[in-house]
Amino acid sequence: MLLYIHIPFCDSKCHYCSFNSYVDKFHLKQQYMQAVLKQLKSDIVLYNVAKESVETIFIGGGTPSTVEASLYEPILSYIKPYLSKNPEITTEANPNSASKQWIKGMFLLGINRISFGVQSFNDTKLKFLNRAHNSKDAISAVQNAKDIGIDNISLDLIYATNMDTKEMLQYDLKQAFELPINHISAYALSIEEGTVFQKTPDVANHKMDLTQLLFQEINNHGFKQYEISNFGAYQSRHNLGYWQYKNYIGIGSGAVGCIDGVRYYPDKDIQLYINNPVHVERETLSLNQQKDEKILLGLRSVVGVKTNLFTSHEMNRVSILIQENKVFQKNNKIYNKNYLLSDELALFITT
Ligand SMILES: C[S@@+](CC[C@H](N)C(=O)[O-])C[C@H]1O[C@@H](n2cnc3c(N)ncnc32)[C@H](O)[C@@H]1O
Ligand code: SF4
Repeated sequence: MLLYIHIPFCDSKCHYCSFNSYVDKFHLKQQYMQAVLKQLKSDIVLYNVAKESVETIFIGGGTPSTVEASLYEPILSYIKPYLSKNPEITTEANPNSASKQWIKGMFLLGINRISFGVQSFNDTKLKFLNRAHNSKDAISAVQNAKDIGIDNISLDLIYATNMDTKEMLQYDLKQAFELPINHISAYALSIEEGTVFQKTPDVANHKMDLTQLLFQEINNHGFKQYEISNFGAYQSRHNLGYWQYKNYIGIGSGAVGCIDGVRYYPDKDIQLYINNPVHVERETLSLNQQKDEKILLGLRSVVGVKTNLFTSHEMNRVSILIQENKVFQKNNKIYNKNYLLSDELALFITT
């Protein structure tokens, strides 16, 4: 079992981001965290979560570092008996708000992995993305986390913007690899509805040669690509869990959970969520939908796809891809050789 907790507060809104987060609702922080605890307690009973069965927690956002560590204490104390041995407990954090004090507080509560939203070490690119931090802030936040004792540190980077050059991406990676990190998530800029960039969609510019160079250089540093956007000397167990289609509880406004093929969505509006944190919309995924998702997630990552998921017609299509050296079979699973082609391959197999 995996647990996701969503923190829907941000200091400012980045020009590309459509995640559920608010810049003007900080006065609701305490009530929100109490509501999170209520939903958590309810979901533990509802989904019959056994003691020592939660393998990973991921606190994401929004910006978890906008909420003081003390407000996480009741939540992380409550979940403790449900954690398995050696759980992976990650929080996202933004370099401008992850102070030493905050990181220390979270570390003392059991956080053992931090994913920093760095995006770039180029200050002009950071301004263009409307980030609230500069490259110096990012460097000291990572160093502070390491000094405090967080051994698993990840950086988010954004590429495929029209500002990107080979030199800029190489500089970002050079700077990243000078820091004590063991994971990078590199996301191609996507244009999302309701964002500032939606008005200027040309700011996204995916140049395949730059992407390949970026992937190659990250791999060369020993951070193996284990999903289309994720690379690590350490592979996040929480991420892998999603792609392995494990059950996950989703807590907080804007979170998503999925238990035994039923996906559920708590209220996105913070006030509605606080009023009734156990109210959710549910969506039952058909067996076909689940199969399509398993194929896509498996082809996008090292997880692969079990051959017994495919019909005989689909296995014929898979055989063609094996001959073309695009995928390979090992034991009873099919693995993709180039994650950038995963959508196309999934379509080819299933039509
Ligand atoms: C949900 S955000 C939360 C992280 C944290 N609030 C931060 O920004 O530092 C996780 C990551 O998703 C990525 N992201 C969000 N929207 C994106 C978009 N439209 N295109 C590419 N990457 C995006 C960013 O790299 C971001 O760090
Ligand atoms: S990228 Fe992170 S900081 Fe920026 S608006 Fe989205 S969640 Fe907030």
